Amino acid sequence: MMEVRRPGGPALPGTGRDKPEMDEPTWWQRGIVYHVYPRSFQDCNGDGVGDLPGITSRLDYLCWLGVDAIWISPIYPSPMADFGYDVTDHCAVHPMFGTLADFDDLVAEAHRRDLRVLLDYVPNHTSDRHPWFVESRASRDNPRRDWYIWRDPAPGGGPPNNWVANFGGSAWTLDERTGQNYYHAYLPDQPDLNWRNPAVRAKMLDVLRFWLDRGVDGFRVDALRQVIKDDQFRDNPPNPDYRPGMGPYQSLLPRYSTDRPEVQDVIRAMRGVLDERPGRLMIGELYLPIHRLVTYYGEGGSGVHLPANFHLLLTPWNAEAVGALVDAYERALPEFGWPNWVLSNHDRHRVASRVGEAQARVAAMLLLTLRGTPTIYYGDEIGMHDVPIPPGRVQDPWEKNVPGLGLGRDPERTPMQWSPDPGAGFTEGEPWLPLSDEYPERNVMAERAEPGSMLNLYHRLITLRRAETALAVGRYRPRGVRGDVLAYERLDGDRRFLVLLNLGHESAKWALEPDEAGEVVLSTHLGRGGDSVADAARLRPDEGLVIALA
Ligand code: NOJ
Repeated sequence: MMEVRRPGGPALPGTGRDKPEMDEPTWWQRGIVYHVYPRSFQDCNGDGVGDLPGITSRLDYLCWLGVDAIWISPIYPSPMADFGYDVTDHCAVHPMFGTLADFDDLVAEAHRRDLRVLLDYVPNHTSDRHPWFVESRASRDNPRRDWYIWRDPAPGGGPPNNWVANFGGSAWTLDERTGQNYYHAYLPDQPDLNWRNPAVRAKMLDVLRFWLDRGVDGFRVDALRQVIKDDQFRDNPPNPDYRPGMGPYQSLLPRYSTDRPEVQDVIRAMRGVLDERPGRLMIGELYLPIHRLVTYYGEGGSGVHLPANFHLLLTPWNAEAVGALVDAYERALPEFGWPNWVLSNHDRHRVASRVGEAQARVAAMLLLTLRGTPTIYYGDEIGMHDVPIPPGRVQDPWEKNVPGLGLGRDPERTPMQWSPDPGAGFTEGEPWLPLSDEYPERNVMAERAEPGSMLNLYHRLITLRRAETALAVGRYRPRGVRGDVLAYERLDGDRRFLVLLNLGHESAKWALEPDEAGEVVLSTHLGRGGDSVADAARLRPDEGLVIALA
């Protein structure tokens, strides 16, 4: 395979070439993370499910796109009750995805291209078929009993408290044989580990070391806010804003089952392991309000490097709301806290389906010009939409448990569309989830050839971000919201960029400050590059502009 090194791309940790100065941005502050859902990225063996050799075969594409790291959702042995988030062995590869040798090959090939590899670390729970749980449930006096969370039924019977599982139903399941309930924040097939037990802690920290020794560059940590629960197991209070369409989990405020203060000790311990090697990254999956989210940077920055910021997934798509979000987040960040932005992931509807095709281009410009590490979900770069899943093909347990509320996650997990060939270039077999009807036109091959495509917009945005320090790591200065237009600047030294995003479907005008002038360096629409801007910038409907200010 041809070696592809990106000019100016950061070198890998441990190679001795990148030792950043204290005040130099790290690779992950400059970089862009690309989220691969491995079941759906590239299938090499015709079983209809993506695999590790498939990911390796697409690394040159990712280099061309210009991302810096891939985060791969779980690849471990698993009965797949929750598609890999139910792990039976944290230190192995599911045969469906390949072998450890395939994994080593992927890391080596990625590193050869200056691409980092992040794994999904699932500390909160295991599969109920994990050997630890099989032992734990065997008897009340099993040495591993306390590796999971066991409680007696409530006096008179029933679950020990009112906690609801994320996918619906009680979060407690009675084990008839031993007469106690085990706790599971998700499915009954996913019992929660007891992180208050030092033996569990030690074993799970060793999992991090296992993968670090194999060369991984960091982790996305699953369900991090859930890892420690209230030591008194108090009932959660009702959610005053609950409406039935929100799904049963939202009926309570998860005050005692998540975001407990002691989780910070666990995070410090995980971070300690990462810090044993230079340059490794820890991203935390944390659905939390901003004021709580930012506490996960930890005191003095001893927590996760990037508490994942999902607020763009949850905020109404209009200039006022998005502008208020960006400003609130920027204000809340601690001095040492580096921002992060996410537009889509494998748990939420795709951005193109949430905001529409034209605005998805504006969203791409937002993602790639804001201050902070952007996370791109596979397929968003070609504008993939959610795919309707016929009832007979539903896979996601959430949809099966709580049908019809739009909570199912299959629509955003469908196979990557590489080409107009049968199987979309994803598989030669029957894909595990249906392909989008759009794939004959909406695919990587077609979009690379089409200058105005979403893919080429992403490519241009990423290329510009990589070339301009101001956009990658420069300061952020809000310029306000006027009507449908959101405006901000990114600055570094004498480089100053004004970003204007029209979140509306009408044309708009943005008056510049007196004596301010510049040149359009990038538009969501073709044919504007090089336009000079003086007095006022005119935006077409659904247009975003990056203007280099003179
Ligand atoms: C969050 C993951 O992103 C999701 O896909 C999974 O179902 C739950 N955590 C449980 O691991």
